Amino acid sequence: MTLVRSDEQRKRVFIRTYGCQMNVYDSDRMADVLRPLGYAPAESAAAADLVLLNTCHIREHASEKVYSELGRLRDMKLERRAAGGDLTIAVAGCVAQAEGEEIVRRQPAVDIVVGPQAYHRLPQLLAEAERKAAIRRTGRRLPGAGVLDTEFPAESKFDHLPAPQGVRAGSAFLSIQEGCDKFCTFCVVPYTRGAEYSRPASAVLAEARRLAEAGALEITLLGQNVNAYHGEAAPSSIGGSTWSLARLIRALAEIEGIARIRYTTSHPRDMDDDLIAAHGQVPQLMPYLHLPVQSGSDRILEAMNRRHGRDLFRRIVDRLREVRPDLALSSDFIVGFPGESDADFDDTMRLVSEVGFAAAYSFKYSRRPGTPGSAMSDQLPENVKAARLAALQALLAEQARQFNLSKVGAIVPVLFAEPGRKPGQIVGKTPWLQSVYAGGAVGLIGRIVDARLIDGHANSLAGEIVVQSEAAA
Ligand code: 5AD
Ligand code: SF4
Repeated sequence: MTLVRSDEQRKRVFIRTYGCQMNVYDSDRMADVLRPLGYAPAESAAAADLVLLNTCHIREHASEKVYSELGRLRDMKLERRAAGGDLTIAVAGCVAQAEGEEIVRRQPAVDIVVGPQAYHRLPQLLAEAERKAAIRRTGRRLPGAGVLDTEFPAESKFDHLPAPQGVRAGSAFLSIQEGCDKFCTFCVVPYTRGAEYSRPASAVLAEARRLAEAGALEITLLGQNVNAYHGEAAPSSIGGSTWSLARLIRALAEIEGIARIRYTTSHPRDMDDDLIAAHGQVPQLMPYLHLPVQSGSDRILEAMNRRHGRDLFRRIVDRLREVRPDLALSSDFIVGFPGESDADFDDTMRLVSEVGFAAAYSFKYSRRPGTPGSAMSDQLPENVKAARLAALQALLAEQARQFNLSKVGAIVPVLFAEPGRKPGQIVGKTPWLQSVYAGGAVGLIGRIVDARLIDGHANSLAGEIVVQSEAAA
């Protein structure tokens, strides 16, 4: 009996996360599912019995990285088997969802493929993989290769996942919405994550209370299209009233201990009046908004099926800045969408100049099989995409640097999250989500501390912790 238990305790899992914050959240939840099975976290694949790749399918480059990593893991598995050991390889996330059987065909060393809606079934999938491994050890023929689960089950995985465990350094993600019904013509999300689903407000609030009790000062609400949130008040209130994101944020702000609320990722069409108003009324709602626009050209926005033009985007930004003048705006951009002309790209550059962004992510259009964009004629050559991306990124980097510099001299609350690269240094986030490096004790990690910002760069700020006088403390 004791032997079995100590054996189980020795199991280690290494989870590698690719892509967005939803995947970071999902990886933590998969670790929660695996913990009762005896899996402790490993530092690296080399130290693990189970390696789980939580994958991203958004751009081609992201999925290709997964296949090269799987090649390396296969070699590791073969070496272990030669030495009498083994390695279980699992693929989760959006590549798993989109390419299920293709993964096992391209890389037969994969034992488990599990889609984002089926994580709660990991224990059964592992048991099944173990059963297959046992058969293989007897030398008999294998009943098929890896174990696949990429269904969209009728029941929600959220009803079956265990309660989230610890809070890291005062900050926690909370997934409230999944999937997307927008069908932008470049995007795989509606296919990999399925139809839009909002968790009931009562479940979200209960999870937020648990996180606050576990020490979360900051909660970031996650969803692929998070501001489309429309959760039932409670699971039993089917057909009853639904809560908007604004209402949910107002209720979260009432929870003791939660000092910072953020949400990501939003769609301009779903920025309703109440949500805009909340930015001016809820002090815990941080003055930062990630609001992808993708392009500044109406023609391209139409071809992307974005359901908004540049004017609507600008009007939303103006209204947000009216209620929250210091709002830091972030966005996503795609350059080189099929048919994008020089004039269309100039429209994007002009929009960026007019709006002014504190931060941004920008990408070359990547052709994703199965999306309408991939079938469009007039795909652009790589060199055009690369030149446009370089020009856009130079402009965005300069805007980010200017935004950071504009805060130099201010004393701002910083939520310290981790040690810095240099000894004696800690790193945290301002309300505007800029990284701040400051000299300070690791004991300050997980706390919100005032810091004076003394220097600004493209991606971060240098700060000094403001020592409170005894009288003020
Ligand atoms: N090519 C390039 N970028 C893409 N994104 C989504 N799909 C593609 C694609 N096919 C970008 C969008 C989105 C972000 C998460 O990734 O800008 O907002
Ligand atoms: Fe993809 Fe976002 Fe468009 Fe939904 S709204 S299809 S997630 S880009």
